[in-house]
Amino acid sequence: MENQFTIITPQYAKHIALIQINRPKELNALNLETMGEIRDAIKMLDADDAVRVIILTGNEKAFAAGADIKQMANKTAIDMFNIDQFTTWDTIKKTKKPIIAAVSGFALGGGCELVMICDMVIASETARFGQPEINLAIMPGAGGTQRMTRAVGKVIAMEMVLGGRFLTATEALQHGLINKVVPVELYLEEAVLLAKTISTFSPIAIRLAKESVNQAFNSTLDEGLMFERKNFYMCFASEDQKEGMAAFVDKRKADFKGR
Ligand code: CAA
Repeated sequence: MENQFTIITPQYAKHIALIQINRPKELNALNLETMGEIRDAIKMLDADDAVRVIILTGNEKAFAAGADIKQMANKTAIDMFNIDQFTTWDTIKKTKKPIIAAVSGFALGGGCELVMICDMVIASETARFGQPEINLAIMPGAGGTQRMTRAVGKVIAMEMVLGGRFLTATEALQHGLINKVVPVELYLEEAVLLAKTISTFSPIAIRLAKESVNQAFNSTLDEGLMFERKNFYMCFASEDQKEGMAAFVDKRKADFKGR
């Protein structure tokens, strides 16, 4: 399925869907239309029972070089307020299924923030992560000061946000921003391998587990532990839990149906 700025392949591999940001001439700069398409594609795939994992990618040169500067250049604060672009980001954040970012080249500004909304990140050796908004006399607006700080810690986040420093893929790995670095020709393949592993597990347990990990960012430890406990109990309401434990006892491979 091809939109104007994104390519959506709901059956890229069994249970795996692929969304590719497709504005190569602008290094995949995220204008409002692109973000709208990404949001709509994710919402559609999140509601599709055949899909268990979503991969979001760009091209070799750029995952995305940020929000579209040309589209923002003449806007006033009230224009930005009325456009309310971040509602789109909030919708993406609510996705129930796991999203893996497969990143090569530039992941800057809004591009880096989009990576950080994803649940896991596979990067090519050429990937560069940065929040260079300070060059434009603005600052990150889609989570760059919050998610980056939680991921890499205060001093590195400060250097990125205040000093415009880019992290190489290896540095991003060292600082806990991404899961793995692979040669450029393998980054998508590696993301698919990870997606395949996740897609063999119970979609119900995966959804409850994703919700629980994310809760860690929004609650005290005790509140988070209580949330986790309720979701743990909830797993026992699924047929998949019975299948998973029966398969273990019978020494056979489990077949999870998402029920
Ligand atoms: N918005 C709009 N267009 C962009 C863009 C962006 N974020 N990034 C790159 N482009 C365009 C360039 O204008 C250029 O277009 P033309 O050919 O029409 O001139 C084309 O993509 C190729 O870019 P360059 O010629 O600059 O390529 P380069 O390889 O020399 O440099 C780069 C690459 C370092 C990524 C450089 O393009 C750059 O610095 N881009 C801007 C990065 C940035 O500041 N991102 C943050 C945006 S603000 C934001 O994201 C706010 C937020 O938090 C939501």
